Amino acid sequence: MKDVQLITKELLSDIHQKAVQNTRKRVNYDLRNSSDDSSQRMLNALEVGTHVPIHRHLNTSETVICMDGRLDWVFYEELPNMIEGGPVHDGEKALDETCFKEVARYRICPRVGRYGIQVPQGVWHSVEVFEPSTIMEAKDGPYMEGKMIKNIKKDKNKMNEKKTIHLCLAHMSDAGEEMKFINRAFDERWVAPLGPNVDGFEDDLKRFIAESGDKSLQGKEVVALASGTAAVHLGLVALGVGPGDEVLAQSFTFCASMNPIRYLGATPIIIDSEPDTWNMDPALLEAAIKDRIAKTGKKPKAIVTVYLYGMPAKLDEIMVIARRYDIPVLEDAAEAFGSQYKGQQVGTFGDYGVLSFNGNKMITTSGGGALICPDKEAKERVKWLAMQAREAYPYYQHESVGYNYRMSNVCAGIGRGQMTVAKDHIAHHRHIAKLYEEAFRDVEGITYHKELEGLMASNYWLSTIVLDKNLKVKNEVLAYAKPIETAIGGAAGVVHGGGSIHTDCEPNINVEAMRIALQAENIESRPLWKPMHRQPVYLDTPAYANGVSESIFKCGLCLPSGPMVSDDDVLRIINTIKSNVL
Ligand SMILES: Cc1ncc(COP(=O)(O)O)c(C=O)c1O
Repeated sequence: MKDVQLITKELLSDIHQKAVQNTRKRVNYDLRNSSDDSSQRMLNALEVGTHVPIHRHLNTSETVICMDGRLDWVFYEELPNMIEGGPVHDGEKALDETCFKEVARYRICPRVGRYGIQVPQGVWHSVEVFEPSTIMEAKDGPYMEGKMIKNIKKDKNKMNEKKTIHLCLAHMSDAGEEMKFINRAFDERWVAPLGPNVDGFEDDLKRFIAESGDKSLQGKEVVALASGTAAVHLGLVALGVGPGDEVLAQSFTFCASMNPIRYLGATPIIIDSEPDTWNMDPALLEAAIKDRIAKTGKKPKAIVTVYLYGMPAKLDEIMVIARRYDIPVLEDAAEAFGSQYKGQQVGTFGDYGVLSFNGNKMITTSGGGALICPDKEAKERVKWLAMQAREAYPYYQHESVGYNYRMSNVCAGIGRGQMTVAKDHIAHHRHIAKLYEEAFRDVEGITYHKELEGLMASNYWLSTIVLDKNLKVKNEVLAYAKPIETAIGGAAGVVHGGGSIHTDCEPNINVEAMRIALQAENIESRPLWKPMHRQPVYLDTPAYANGVSESIFKCGLCLPSGPMVSDDDVLRIINTIKSNVL
């Protein structure tokens, strides 16, 4: 039996304390005027990780919810229009069951910030989730001795300043498709790294990529794996890369494009970028191939291309060179799900293609990836390698080294749900990109990085800008003024403590000052990937550099994108950037 308590200042303070201590407690409380059934149901469901139920008072627009042991305040704009065809409410009458269920499906992220909720008819509504401390600090705040305040609108602007805009947050389908597939996995006891969701997700992906090109793509097959990194690794294994081999790889990338080459005892041969797409420079690629053959007497074993922030590379040129020297291509399209080159999904041009479904990608399976394979035979071999390379005996017989890289059936359920909104996600990223492009068009000293029109369509996974090195930004003295205690981005909290403030290759002062200025406004931004040939771990690796990736790295910044970023957010980001330019 749960406790039902009256909200008091003391109780709120207690809840906040517990949230700060990171404890999780199921808290139920008595909402004034809300002793009806649906309120009770809401109270019963106030628990971490569930779909967050909401309750509204119909003449006002407040909602109280409890997430992650923390009491939060949610404010809905234009709530009365939210549910098409839903029951008409008036007065203080509570939501009836249909309506309650409709609303309860929307999962609100347990963080502070502003979120969009997509309602069934596709309209976006913004939601504000505020820190309990903010609420309690409000003078005539919402929780004075058990009373919910009615004037949250008055404080909205003040509270807006606090909300965080993340670089790229996962977004779930508004119809809750992910949960349906996950529930099915549990109901059917398919909680394993194989099962109907895995097969279904692979089929969905196969269909998605085949739609983008000619008939030849219908022969491509997809294997769902535990991560994009695993897909890079298995792609290299499938191409026969082993100790002593050389593999040509792009310098300007995330480390996961390159590390698996080292896992296999092979040597990466690092290739710099061309300035149009920021991806592998075809001229440099060919020069490197010739030089490696002259130096070692043998051809590199494979080429790993990358599509930075979703931007396709100059694929015609690269593929011509690959064919000329008969070197297979592994496309690392981890960031480029949905990006097309001449109308064809990237990842399907080479022999194998990598996709990532990490939490921040175009679609997510929480963590996951896939390898696009040339045919059924290749798929079967990759699957076999991904499941410990077991031979057909009644006991465990191993004649090759295998890996535990298969995707879980639960995660694949998320993927299946995400595939129902994949095209919406891509469209939204492209929409945000357009807004940035237009807004930065007239800003001197800032250039928005855009696709080569008519040749390619980037998914614009992240939107990126470069700041002229002569551009002056406010408070440049703050840049590199003190050590960073954690990483900027996904690995936050799980990195080695920074030894020093500077390295010998870092973003310009104006870029770091802009990042800090955005952070001060709760807007997440991030420098571009640091080129691999400037990473200490790859300093002893042969590199064919032309200075392009290094100079872009020093000037560039990634900006928030994705379905959780609204048009208003983009406006706020742009205004913050403009107001920090001197
Ligand atoms: C270019 C690139 N390759 C590979 C990966 C690895 O993917 P995952 O994080 O799913 O292992 C990532 C991203 O995270 C990436 O950006």
